Amino acid sequence: MTTKIAPSILAADFAVLKEEIQDVVNGGADYIHVDVMDGHFVPNISFGTVVLSAIRPLTDITMDVHLMIEKPDQYIPEFVQAGADIISVHVEACTHLHRTIHMIKEAGVKPGVVINPATPVEMIKPILKDVDLVLFMTVNPGFGGQAFIPEVLDKVKQAAKWREELGLSFEIEVDGGVNEETAKQCIEAGVDVLVAGSSVFNEKDRSAAIQQLRNLTKS
Ligand code: DX5
Ligand code: ZN
Repeated sequence: MTTKIAPSILAADFAVLKEEIQDVVNGGADYIHVDVMDGHFVPNISFGTVVLSAIRPLTDITMDVHLMIEKPDQYIPEFVQAGADIISVHVEACTHLHRTIHMIKEAGVKPGVVINPATPVEMIKPILKDVDLVLFMTVNPGFGGQAFIPEVLDKVKQAAKWREELGLSFEIEVDGGVNEETAKQCIEAGVDVLVAGSSVFNEKDRSAAIQQLRNLTKS
C-alpha cells in the first residue's frame, strides 16, 4: 500500500496560506493536516474553526483535523460545521473518550484518537474498534520542527499487531519530526499516513518533497 502524506499547515507561510495549500495539493498531498492548539492542552496557540472554514472551499482534499485542546467535545460541532473530514482527539484530553469518539462519528465525520509519546499504548486498545485513525505523536505536541522520538515506534508496531489480530482497518498516522530518515522507520513499523510539517513546507519544491517521502518503501 502506498504511504499517504499529510502536510501540516502549521509550517506554512500564513501570509499566503491559500497558495501554500494549493501548492501541496497540486504536489500530491493526500490530506491537509490541521493543527489546532489552545494554549492549555499544549503550550502554544495556533488557530481554529475560522481558518478551517476559510481554507475548506479551496480544495476537496481530506481535512485531517488534529485537536490539541482541552474539552474537545465543546468544539466538535463547530469543526464539523467548518468542514473537517477527520477529527482526532487526544486520549489524554478526553475524560469520556468513547462518548467523544461517538459524538464525532454521529456527526458524519471520521473519528481519530491521538496518543502522546509518554502515554502507554494500552490506553487506546479499548477504542480501536471505534476509530478510523490512530495518530501517534512522535514529538511532544505544541510545536513544529522538533526531533522525532524513536521509542514511539514500538507502540506503532503494537497497534499494527492489534489491528491484524482484531481484524480492524484503522489507519496509523505519525506526527512530528518526520523526514526522509525517520519516515522510513515509520513505514517499516506499519505507518500508513505521514504528517510532515517542516520537511515539506521548508522545501522550495513541495511536490518533490512529498514524492520523496511517499517513495520510501519497506526495506
Ligand atoms: C505538533 C503538531 C505537528 C507539527 C509537525 O504539535 O501536531 O503536526 O506541525 O511538524 P514537523 O513535521 O515540523 O515536526
Ligand atoms: Zn498534528
